[in-house]
Amino acid sequence: MLNPKYFSFPAICLMTLTVCQTGIAKTLTAMSPDSRIKVEVSDDNDQPVYRVFYQNKPVIQSSKLGLYFKESPDFLNGFNIQSTATASHDETWQQPWGERREVQDQHNQLSVQLKRNKAPFNTYTLKFKVFNDGIGFRYEVPKQPGINQVEIINEATEFVLPNSSQSEAWWIGAKQFNRYEHIYQKSKLAEIDRANTPFTARLANGMHLSIHEAALIDYAGMTLDQQQPGVFKANLTPWFDGVAVKTQTDFKSPWRTIQIAPQAIGLLNSDLILNLNEPNKLGDVSWVNPGKYVGIWWGMHIGTHTWGSGDKHGATTELTKNYMDFAAKYGFDGVLVEGWNTGWDGDWAANGEIFSFTQAYPDFDLTQISEYGKKVGVKLIGHHETSGHASNYHNQMADAYDLYEKHGVEQIKTGYVASAGNITRIDENGFERKEWHDGQFMVGEYLKSVTEAAKRKISINTHEPVKDTGLRRTYPNWISREGARGQEFNAWGQPPNPPEHTVMLTYTRMLSGPMDFTPGIFDLTFNDKREADIGGLQDDLQAAKRYENRIPTTLAKQLALYVVLYSPIQMVPDLPENYEAKPDAFQFIVDVPTDWEKSEAIAGEVGEYVVFARQERGGEDWYLGAITDANARKVSINLDFLKAGETYQAQIYRDGKEADWQTNPYDLIIENKPVKKGDSLILPLATSGGAAIRFKKL
Ligand code: NOJ
Ligand code: CA
Repeated sequence: MLNPKYFSFPAICLMTLTVCQTGIAKTLTAMSPDSRIKVEVSDDNDQPVYRVFYQNKPVIQSSKLGLYFKESPDFLNGFNIQSTATASHDETWQQPWGERREVQDQHNQLSVQLKRNKAPFNTYTLKFKVFNDGIGFRYEVPKQPGINQVEIINEATEFVLPNSSQSEAWWIGAKQFNRYEHIYQKSKLAEIDRANTPFTARLANGMHLSIHEAALIDYAGMTLDQQQPGVFKANLTPWFDGVAVKTQTDFKSPWRTIQIAPQAIGLLNSDLILNLNEPNKLGDVSWVNPGKYVGIWWGMHIGTHTWGSGDKHGATTELTKNYMDFAAKYGFDGVLVEGWNTGWDGDWAANGEIFSFTQAYPDFDLTQISEYGKKVGVKLIGHHETSGHASNYHNQMADAYDLYEKHGVEQIKTGYVASAGNITRIDENGFERKEWHDGQFMVGEYLKSVTEAAKRKISINTHEPVKDTGLRRTYPNWISREGARGQEFNAWGQPPNPPEHTVMLTYTRMLSGPMDFTPGIFDLTFNDKREADIGGLQDDLQAAKRYENRIPTTLAKQLALYVVLYSPIQMVPDLPENYEAKPDAFQFIVDVPTDWEKSEAIAGEVGEYVVFARQERGGEDWYLGAITDANARKVSINLDFLKAGETYQAQIYRDGKEADWQTNPYDLIIENKPVKKGDSLILPLATSGGAAIRFKKL
């Protein structure tokens, strides 16, 4: 039923939900449930466009919609609104794991059917969903005469942002060498050429927004090109032959999303991306286990171990058992082991075709290790680095997952190290083709890994992934992914991550979903321990020495990242001896959960600082993480999130008076005090500092 409060039509269309007279421009309006966000869709000049307002402030100005095809005539101008349908929806659903157990999906929907006003009279539907925290829209193209097999060259979708010379954005470039692993930039909108999503902006009128996409399945990823000042145009990542999407009718595009909030933290508290994904398709997923894990990993990045065979080989039976003992001692769930399978010797990053995913190096005994893991109650976490040779991995996937299933492995970290646009695919005629990590081919390969793993009750943590678009709702065994510069860049990045990096991530990359960032390095200045042989990364290592790589934060900030950067699996990545050297600080990592009942960003500004409070899933305790950029600041926090009438012991890990990430990063104060709802705390954050708190219910 049409609710006049939410949907309005110009006079000529008032009496009907179907055909309005061709040749007369129509404008349809849909409002968010709280009436703050308004979307207008119109066919002015026979060209479908949309506009978005927040309390009458323009957020998106008149922006074109449409699709370009290789063979069929484009869906661009010459289309008129033919009919429309509306619906309202309010439902609360549960996440099996996540930032919060309960998610509310409340929105108003507007479907607009468009029809070409001359032969061949093509038709498609634009579906809009308007939530209190933003909007999503997608193209739905039905079966129709003359359009069967379809090759989409690009989308005409625009996001026209007002006042591009004054409005600001936080973003990374697209189609560049390192995929999504770039330093985030802050600039005026006008300075941007091509950006990846999530793309976050603060308009000159004060509104915050983030452009992204949801439910990217069997389609090409979308980047944004600024073609004229303020006009950001969707650019679909093509296959090697220039076609973006190969499909057939009927098909639906992913949702194009715009999260909208007056305050920066409003973006962080939005569930819009998840709400635009389909519900869980896997049924019972009680076998998907959030948790913490250690790994034979950081040693390879700082050069104390190697992935390849030899004296310093990390993936040995003996070292794995030691790590399992360490994990068991502190209650961690798993041990990741990289470099266990043959193919790492030589320049592994360039030789993806020689990896075997079933053949272990002789000094790694999978049977013995998994038996030992069972004895001490710790899971082996599998690892598959493909070096971007997608076909080599594809061909071995079933056998490789069977092998891990046989040994009780519940989680696999995958890796696709290859420069952007350089994924190797061997086509049906044996020709080698190069594809992008975010093109339709790889969108399919990543999902295949997840669905094949699900058949064996295995979860996947993808590194060098396609960006997250919320598919964890539909496939809850897609437990985490990388998809930005992680901690590893502090080991060898040129330059390493700047002090503001993790604050930037919070307001950009993290809007798409969990990230396996691997926080928690305790030896912040590890360079002195390095030796010059880490296989494929040897050149990087030499450069890292020149750059004097280190962790550009205080110790307190490393702890706070466990709360701030959400992931249901969190690594405890440093060498065990570095944790045992600082047992008091380590206690926070031992205590902090990775699965939450509730989560709320309670303070922050984009790229400057952020404070999150989260309640443990199935527990009473709350945790808080606060981090800042290169600037020291004092943040005042109201403890309104605590339960009324209860007393909590606040176990506070914060920067000391002298803390400074460059000169005194280890100055950490650990103090306990009783607190209750309504109290406030002032947290002094040092330069690139932080605070981590456990509120233990007494
Ligand atoms: C890149 C991943 O991000 C990193 O975690 C891993 O150690 C290497 N690839 C090797 O697979
Ligand atoms: Ca990586």
